[in-house]
Amino acid sequence: MGIYLDNAATSYPKPETVYAAVDRFMRDVGSSSGRGAYRKALLADKIVFATREALGRLFGVRDVSRIVFTANATESLNLALKGLLAPGDHVVTSSMEHNAVWRPLKRLEHERGIEVTAVPCSMDGSLNPQDVADALRPNTRLVALTHASNVTGTILPIGEVGEAARRHGVLLLLDAAQTAGSCPIDVEALGIDLLAFTGHKGLFGPTGTGGLYIREGIDLLPLKEGGTGGESILEHQPNHLPDRYEAGTLNVCGIAGLSSGVEFILNEGVDRIREKEKELTGYFLQALEGIHGIEVYGPKDPEKQVGVVSLNISGVMPQDVAHVLDEAYEIMVRSGLHCAPMAHRTIGTIDRGTVRFGLGYFNTIEEIDAAVQALAEIARKALS
Ligand SMILES: Cc1ncc(COP(=O)(O)O)c(C=O)c1O
Repeated sequence: MGIYLDNAATSYPKPETVYAAVDRFMRDVGSSSGRGAYRKALLADKIVFATREALGRLFGVRDVSRIVFTANATESLNLALKGLLAPGDHVVTSSMEHNAVWRPLKRLEHERGIEVTAVPCSMDGSLNPQDVADALRPNTRLVALTHASNVTGTILPIGEVGEAARRHGVLLLLDAAQTAGSCPIDVEALGIDLLAFTGHKGLFGPTGTGGLYIREGIDLLPLKEGGTGGESILEHQPNHLPDRYEAGTLNVCGIAGLSSGVEFILNEGVDRIREKEKELTGYFLQALEGIHGIEVYGPKDPEKQVGVVSLNISGVMPQDVAHVLDEAYEIMVRSGLHCAPMAHRTIGTIDRGTVRFGLGYFNTIEEIDAAVQALAEIARKALS
């Protein structure tokens, strides 16, 4: 049991309907999708199609064939960046990016000679959209940004950045790993050309699920080639979507769970989920203010961040705090650099990282109270 506060890594628990969908698929369907014409295979096709449709409703995508399934946000970001960028292209990104954006960009810088500008964010992780507009050059092909930092929770001004990008004819790639399901995302309203999302965090799906929305008119080089079920006579990968980017047997079992996760979100409403996370985050932040010896990073304002709160206790290393929370209080959190070293440089914690609390829709005020009490005790002992 215990108190799970690591939802920024992956959400837990999932809605009951997600467990039921995975179980039902494994027991009663079990077949591959896009491969057979017998009734059970068609049932698998139906599950995959229904999931694409549900995601389309969530993200405001009309042509759902332009949503392709991947294993996670990392694969989606690799497909978008490696499929799009060519020698001489310039990319603008931020200093709060996850390694899932930063490492592919570094590789492309090295191998394809692309140029990268990381616009510096403030100490609380916030980004001035004008700084992004000022960084655009005639050869800028793409702005690649996280929607919210997985270190501080800071929400970046995607609407304004999208507008500036559109005005300059530059594409916008959004890393929605920390926001899909808990913040409203409409690809049309926000001017998003490529939307990378993961299935196992805010969308409540199983691990091994994710996807990429690719706006009409954008052609990416596939990351992989292989069987697609149809057009097997072709020697090359088919051109039409989603097959062009979905080589190999899909994770239909995971997608069945993801489908139920997205349906759960559509039924609850993203706004309600966001309100609950804001309530928990605001409550936590306010309670932390009263504890001597704790430094909190980020905007410290639930309106400006998702349910991610990073902190340190003076005199105690983050991994020791996380260890005591687990061993003595059964509270699960993450410590260290959270796969985003640039973000830690930005907020001044590159030397030790932070203790990160990832609050989720299923957490309660009582669980936050327990975390606050535990932190107060650890901080008091450290000072004595
Ligand atoms: C901001 C951000 N981008 C990308 C990722 C990568 O997601 P995944 O591990 O599901 O590929 C994460 C996950 O921690 C993240 O927080």
